[in-house]
Amino acid sequence: MSQNLTLDFGAARVNVDDKAMINARADVNQLLPMKYGWAWEKYLAGCDNHWMPTEVAMQADIALWKSPDGLTDDERLMLKRNLGFFATAESLVANNLVLAVYRHLTNPECRQYLLRQAFEEAVHTHTFQYVCESLGLDEGELFNAYREVPSIADKDSWALRYTRNLENPDFRTGTVEADQEFLRDLVAFYVVFEGMWFYTGFAQVLSLGRRNKMVGIAEQYQYILRDESIHLNFGIDCINQIKAENPHLWTPEFQREVRDMLVEACALEVAYARDTMPRPMLGLSAELCEQYMHFITDRRAAQLGLEPVFGEPENPFPWMSEAMDLRKEKNFFETRVTDYRSGAALEWD
Ligand SMILES: [Fe+2]
Ligand SMILES: [Fe+2]
Repeated sequence: MSQNLTLDFGAARVNVDDKAMINARADVNQLLPMKYGWAWEKYLAGCDNHWMPTEVAMQADIALWKSPDGLTDDERLMLKRNLGFFATAESLVANNLVLAVYRHLTNPECRQYLLRQAFEEAVHTHTFQYVCESLGLDEGELFNAYREVPSIADKDSWALRYTRNLENPDFRTGTVEADQEFLRDLVAFYVVFEGMWFYTGFAQVLSLGRRNKMVGIAEQYQYILRDESIHLNFGIDCINQIKAENPHLWTPEFQREVRDMLVEACALEVAYARDTMPRPMLGLSAELCEQYMHFITDRRAAQLGLEPVFGEPENPFPWMSEAMDLRKEKNFFETRVTDYRSGAALEWD
């Protein structure tokens, strides 16, 4: 696909009908006329949700972490593995975004959102640097966890399979095979990584926060969760728009393949829940997280227009959806020092 690196002086003005998600003929440098309002809307929502990890006070977390009976051993293990997953997950997502997705998504309003999202991923990685420094954690233990903790390594190596080829400079979309490969990458990163694998971790840390433990980190996770729910929904919209424009890609066989990806991803997440929580804690258990992941998997399948995988109608953590709406819990933690706008409405969670 042409990356429009030459100027083509005198070329005709952009016709909105020539704009397309992938393999577009229209110039990728012209935002207007706009075709995909949903992408622009998410760009604006992302900007409205601006935050920085350093605005969150960490004193209470530091005191609790350093106090010998501040947290139980199980809670410490969970938190370290949880942070260990996120510390590199944000970079894996960012690198896929910038090195693979950006090149092959040939629409300027979507690229505008990708640029915003890429910055948010940088803010998320910054959060783990800030937490590591504040608590005085072992940098290597945290940032090398994905190469040392098997349940984290299993998830990350599963996802990396899907980006490896797309990051190759010679990879081009434009054939059924290549376009399906790009769709698989969008499913792996937007739906699985950002839409499934972050959720056990969010539930764990928000459960600590609900019990008044590690409230600074819990507040940061709440902001990350709000960002991620827009990332996920942007990804779902992208996939569905590509399907609508290229119905020949969404064959019954390909749909089965995507469903199988969700099943595998769910199993990897359940293994991670067991590994991070060998015993129940904070009103959570590996079994409840498994039920929650079945619920989330079915929700993601529905968002992609697929049949449910597990038929799990019950969300064991209904408070998670409330946690996403920060306007409702504006003074929940009361540790934030700067106020931006109160945050965009999340009608698409
Ligand atoms: Fe992120
Ligand atoms: Fe994200």
